[in-house]
Amino acid sequence: MIISTPPFCPVQFDDPDLLRSAFHATTDMHALWAHLREVAPVYKADPGGGREQFWVVTRHADVSRVLRSHTEFSSRRGTILSVLDLNTPDIATDDMLADTDPPRHRELREPLNHAFAPSLVATHDKLIRGLARDAIQRALDADVYDIAHDTMMFAMSITGTLMGLPPESWERLMHVVMMTIAYEDPTYAAGNAMATVRQARHQMFEAFKEQFALRTRDDEHPDAIGIMRQMDLSEGPMTEQQAMVNGYVLLIGANVTTPHTLCTLFTQMAEHPDQFERLRHHPEDLQIALAEVLRWASPVTALMRYAIQDVELQGQTIRAGEPVSAWLGSANRDERVFDDPYTFDLTRRPNRHVAFGVGPHYCIGAGMAKVTLQIFMEELLDMVETVEIAGEVQHVASHFVPGYKSLPVRFTPRKTVAAAR
Ligand code: HEM
Repeated sequence: MIISTPPFCPVQFDDPDLLRSAFHATTDMHALWAHLREVAPVYKADPGGGREQFWVVTRHADVSRVLRSHTEFSSRRGTILSVLDLNTPDIATDDMLADTDPPRHRELREPLNHAFAPSLVATHDKLIRGLARDAIQRALDADVYDIAHDTMMFAMSITGTLMGLPPESWERLMHVVMMTIAYEDPTYAAGNAMATVRQARHQMFEAFKEQFALRTRDDEHPDAIGIMRQMDLSEGPMTEQQAMVNGYVLLIGANVTTPHTLCTLFTQMAEHPDQFERLRHHPEDLQIALAEVLRWASPVTALMRYAIQDVELQGQTIRAGEPVSAWLGSANRDERVFDDPYTFDLTRRPNRHVAFGVGPHYCIGAGMAKVTLQIFMEELLDMVETVEIAGEVQHVASHFVPGYKSLPVRFTPRKTVAAAR
């Protein structure tokens, strides 16, 4: 269906495009979302090809309701659009944290919360700061440096440490993570989309299986995999299969979102040096600034739910059982909630962004992400005077996370740091 009602939409699209990764990589999605919010805030898309029709929800209030209201909208059949795109049944209903509804959700979530508590992450301050400084220094040492890969490995090194994954597997696992979210991107595809996702899942599952077997039920200081080894669910101890799927969602959750936020941070620092200069003199505003970087980045583009009952939304009736996609990227620019939504403003307050979601599935790693991103920002402001985008920027082709594949930057050192050397 092409919606052509005024106001004029500069983006010509058809329903299946919303599931096509390449469309997301090459289209001004913000223009499209602005149009949908205005003229068709809740509409039913028909992707064709025997795939289920699905609802597209773009306003902040409706996106929040879909994500928050677990009695109306269920996560059990999967939460990533690829379920529709690939026409696959969900693999982990009621076993993988993201694919559960309360009360089952609480059983899995409460113990896992400990593995990524901000207080625990903060004990790794030195490691995180060191990783950030190393990445920044590599860029400073070069004239032009493609920093995209370093942001991925920064995230992977922290998650790998907290999960207890062997460092020699991080590079390979990072590639495999990208295969699951960018299965149509030539850099990551290994055969067709289905084959790519299967291969990636297999490799990740094998990695977690191996590690699960190495943990015991009485380790005194368990890492995240160790915590899963010790978890008791209502039906008994967590199984290897359950640990595999939860390891999978944790690894993906952490490692595609944080790099995208960092790359957005660099592009915004290049575009708005004055705002970052102000921030340097007001470090107390770092958290406010980070919220704006997250709103701007909106690392997770869209999430899925399935209606449990008939629900009225914006005059439309969503029938029980129908898939509903909630577009976070759109909600974060909703003019009904944000003044001047297309202006990047590091002092924006209030900032009701939904980058981490809302409701029971609110990102379990939000605290960890905030600690790590804040540390990175502190180091960046300390070491780098200016950022310039110094070459062609390439985005990952994905309808889940519109990350960066290539981001050539030129960093100039801060004079004080340069003088001290
Ligand atoms: C900038 C960084 C991050 C962003 C923007 C982000 C975004 C999100 C969003 C939007 C959700 C909600 C999913 C839903 O409602 O279905 C979510 C959930 C989740 N995130 Fe994150 N995330 C980030 C970092 C992390 C990190 C560091 C981890 C690893 C610890 C992580 C692991 C997860 C997991 C496992 C869930 C599912 C939680 C549940 O179902 O209860 N995320 N994240």
